[in-house]
Amino acid sequence: MKTLLLPADDKSISYAAELLNKGQTVAIPTETVYGLAAIALNEAAVSRVFKAKGRPQDNPLIVHISSLEMISPLVLDIPAPAKKLAEAFWPGALTMIFKSSGLIPKSVTAKLDTVAIRFPSHEVAKRIIEETGMPLAAPSANSSGKPSPTTAAHVYNDLKGKIPAVIDGGECNVGIESTVVLLNDDSVTLLRPGGITVEMLSAFTDVTVAEGVLHEVSDGERPLSPGMKHKHYSPKTKIIMVEGDFEKFKAFVAEKSNQKYGVMVFDGEEKSFSVPSVVYGGKESAAAQANRLFSALRLVDDLNVKVVYARSPQKDGVGLAVYNRLIRAAGFEVITL
Ligand code: TXA
Ligand code: MG
Repeated sequence: MKTLLLPADDKSISYAAELLNKGQTVAIPTETVYGLAAIALNEAAVSRVFKAKGRPQDNPLIVHISSLEMISPLVLDIPAPAKKLAEAFWPGALTMIFKSSGLIPKSVTAKLDTVAIRFPSHEVAKRIIEETGMPLAAPSANSSGKPSPTTAAHVYNDLKGKIPAVIDGGECNVGIESTVVLLNDDSVTLLRPGGITVEMLSAFTDVTVAEGVLHEVSDGERPLSPGMKHKHYSPKTKIIMVEGDFEKFKAFVAEKSNQKYGVMVFDGEEKSFSVPSVVYGGKESAAAQANRLFSALRLVDDLNVKVVYARSPQKDGVGLAVYNRLIRAAGFEVITL
């Protein structure tokens, strides 16, 4: 299959909607990461998404909408926290998990009785959903296991030959996937941290952070979100996350001179090293780190080293989301200095 890389203009948006309505997949830009979209009610189209990504069937997809009216047929009810959070953060980088009405096929929800819904704020994503007139199932548009794509080129590298088109909307603003919350009657459980932070959610409802956000889900355990147990964001090169201040980090890696290693550090810090390095945003800006993290992870294998020691982000605000992705890229291997 030839994969078209198209500019995000009116013509391409209409063409994308046409392909989707014919049961094809299209990679689309969103404010978080690029998504690989298919009409959520079309099971044959949805199976093409799983196939192109090589995604395990037991990992459910997020359903994307372009208006609040699109929700009610898809869900059993709308709990109180959902109303408040939708008003505060939609359209935007928040996914909420509702009890499913059963309309969305089991292949999308991985046989769960819940459905994840997001109303993206990206103009191109919104217009494509509007033009199809249908909810779109869209996981991140990477090959399963690779870092999520934040540019059309990332998508193209992963999926060329496997999907008919990528709509190039430039670089994604947020750079990491949406915050995912499970809705309870009077509270929410955070399943995946993102650009909408715990602190922001807490202004509207009680928030519990699920165990799997910061810790490895052990074998045999059934996590609240299937995505927690899948291998994620992994370059081929081994990454080890190192917690501690910059002086300690420098001293720690200085002792590794017998290894072929590189470092993953904050902007400007690379000047202190003579080994290969990648940078992932300024030390003080978690938003900049989020924006750069996945691009940086895609560069790690080009360093041609055996192991990369990575500086650890903060665990508050957007930093929690950066930490959550990086610790998975490191296979939960952390050294605390
Ligand atoms: O920002 C985003 O959310 C991007 C863009 C394209 O919208 N999408 C995205 O999709 O990150 P994906 O498939 O890469 O991640 C969806 C996550 C997975 O961890 C999945 O397990 C979880 O959401 N999920 C989906 N439906 C769920 C459900 N019913 N219950 C629990 N977790 C669910
Ligand atoms: Mg993904």
